[in-house]
Amino acid sequence: MTQPIKLIIDTDPGIDDTMAIFYAAGAPDIDLIGLTSIFGNVTTDQATRNALRLLEWAGLHKVPVAQGAAKPRALPAFPPSHNVHGDEGFGTIAAATPQGKMSDESAAAFLVRMAREHKGELVICPIGPLTNIAEALDLDPEFANNVSRIVLMGGSLEEGGNISPHAEANIYHDPHAAERVFASGAKIVMVGLDVTHRILCTAEDFDRLEENAPRLGGLINEMSRFYLHFYTTVGKHDGCSLHDPAAVIACTHPHLFETRAVPIAVSCLGETSGATLLSNDTRASTDVLMRVDAEAVKRQFFKVMNTLD
Ligand code: BDR
Ligand code: CA
Repeated sequence: MTQPIKLIIDTDPGIDDTMAIFYAAGAPDIDLIGLTSIFGNVTTDQATRNALRLLEWAGLHKVPVAQGAAKPRALPAFPPSHNVHGDEGFGTIAAATPQGKMSDESAAAFLVRMAREHKGELVICPIGPLTNIAEALDLDPEFANNVSRIVLMGGSLEEGGNISPHAEANIYHDPHAAERVFASGAKIVMVGLDVTHRILCTAEDFDRLEENAPRLGGLINEMSRFYLHFYTTVGKHDGCSLHDPAAVIACTHPHLFETRAVPIAVSCLGETSGATLLSNDTRASTDVLMRVDAEAVKRQFFKVMNTLD
């Protein structure tokens, strides 16, 4: 096998974030070198606690967690998405204090240092708002060149939004940060609603996962009930989207997706705030995933998840 990729996940855990992090923990082609926390589904403090808990559940006690920004770059803070992910971010699973401690470094400082130490090799996978990534770009003018690529879950080109008619939630929660990231010149892969809305999982899928991987699969199964219920409240009865796992899988299995290279701009104003749009500025182009072999992504997801525990 080729060398595993070095990966940092920037995350607001979050039920689908949990699935993505457990996937990364079990995938033989991923070397998870850290998590950075961000607000979104939960507050940043809660995201840090949840990230530590997830690593402890997964037996990755040595993987560091660096705490990120507490609020968006220019907008006031949004309330957490308790209706989608539950009060603590884990559906109905109760709060608990993690044993481990977060690192002394900020998320942005950790990202910058890791990108320097693993120049040309580090893949960053943001699965929450992009505030920490924008901060890392501000901190180090070489950051965009030092990373191998940024494979982000967010945005939508033709699919419309999920938090507003125009915007996907991660971009909506900090459009100014997203604008900074898309214009940075880093190699960027956008894993947005155009593909994640095609990758759906049902309660039966998660029941089967629990049978195969009782402990971590059982946790996911319990969390997924809350997540699936939210989807039914917005009229979606055919399953929940594997948003964040799709981004992690796109890091190692790009051949399961079809890509369009286009420059992306972000609306930061008015009712379209958070929309990802085609830009006239051709200096920075983004690889936008437009089509997916959804069955193959699901197969890959459960193949790894079934090996957990
Ligand atoms: C994104 O928003 C969050 O609720 C999910 O965790 C995912 O990262 C989907 O729009
Ligand atoms: Ca997320």
